[in-house]
Amino acid sequence: MSAQSHAAGIHLTDLQKTYNKTPVIPGLTAELAAGEFTVILGPSGCGKSTLLNMIAGLEKVSGGKIMIGSREVQNIAPKDRGLAMVFQNYALYPHMSVADNIGYALKVAGVPKDERTSRIQTAANVVNLGDYLDRRPSELSGGQRQRVAIARAIVREPQVLLFDEPLSNLDAKLRHDMRMELSSLHRRIGATSVFVTHDQVEAMTLADRILILNHGRIQQFDTPHNIYHKPANTFVAGFIGSPPMNLIEAQASNGAVSVGGVRLAATEISGDVTVGIRPEHIKVTESGIPVHVAYREDLGSHSTMVVEMENGQTLRLATQLGEPIRGGEWVHITIPEDKLHFFNAATGDALRSN
Ligand SMILES: Nc1ncnc2c1ncn2[C@@H]1O[C@H](COP(=O)(O)OP(=O)(O)OP(=O)(O)O)[C@@H](O)[C@H]1O
Ligand SMILES: [Mg+2]
Repeated sequence: MSAQSHAAGIHLTDLQKTYNKTPVIPGLTAELAAGEFTVILGPSGCGKSTLLNMIAGLEKVSGGKIMIGSREVQNIAPKDRGLAMVFQNYALYPHMSVADNIGYALKVAGVPKDERTSRIQTAANVVNLGDYLDRRPSELSGGQRQRVAIARAIVREPQVLLFDEPLSNLDAKLRHDMRMELSSLHRRIGATSVFVTHDQVEAMTLADRILILNHGRIQQFDTPHNIYHKPANTFVAGFIGSPPMNLIEAQASNGAVSVGGVRLAATEISGDVTVGIRPEHIKVTESGIPVHVAYREDLGSHSTMVVEMENGQTLRLATQLGEPIRGGEWVHITIPEDKLHFFNAATGDALRSN
């Protein structure tokens, strides 16, 4: 399959979508590099599918510009945009073989039979279904069917591949397998890919860069590493991580930030501040801040706890399994200063991340 030569970057400029006078996407500007795998992540209803559908041409734009490569495409028909899309409901034709499902679009486009056969075989090989071409969809597993849907998309050798929650119908193990397959597929074919999900694990594992959307606005567009380690605001901080980051309303004065009288860290800032600490960075220690264990879940590989400080502040913790701690006990915790995040208490924007 021809690779990088086919990739085209996507440039969105002040892209807008309004439904019945309600702005769903008020104006979005972003550059998705050629060959890059972008994951659009955000809560339900934030505009992910709307954004993808505008790139695909399935939704009209209310304003702004979409460039694919050097072409302005927002007024061009979907089939002429050089892209292919994979949906959550992949709707294969049940009466057709795998080969005919994969090659259907080529047939409609009038591609000659010999070329069709060879492109179908290549696309099927890419998704490891080379030996399944004669099967009917009903004779395949859920993951194999989803791979047929992907083969059907890549057989057209698109410059851009769009995915809208393609793995949501699969069970946990299959999703894991498909993540690995999509990742290696992307390395092999190199098409610019845009993948919509509300699953942060999919986003963290698949993306070159994650575009975090809330209410149609970009919250952060960055590498998975920076999204986790340097969240731009409290929305991103609270959205990524499981359990999510603790966000504590704290007060900074006289060179220290504290919560309800308990000192957390030295700081130059003063006034109200939101302090963030990830559950996995809080340690249960011999001495430190005394906390009451309100709730505990043992997950095998690790456990999570909800603890309460003497001043009533609750915190979520995730710990490697060590000493068995029962709910209802008192323990001590240490919150490492270098793991703290600071956010503007009013706007939620990051002040600095240690
Ligand atoms: N055809 C439509 N008419 C009116 N409002 C719409 C239409 N399509 C979507 N919306 C609204 O636009 C907003 C964004 O919808 P969209 O489908 O893009 O969300 P999403 O992020 O993909 O959510 P999900 O994760 O649930 O799929 C929602 O508030 C939705 O109700
Ligand atoms: Mg959607």
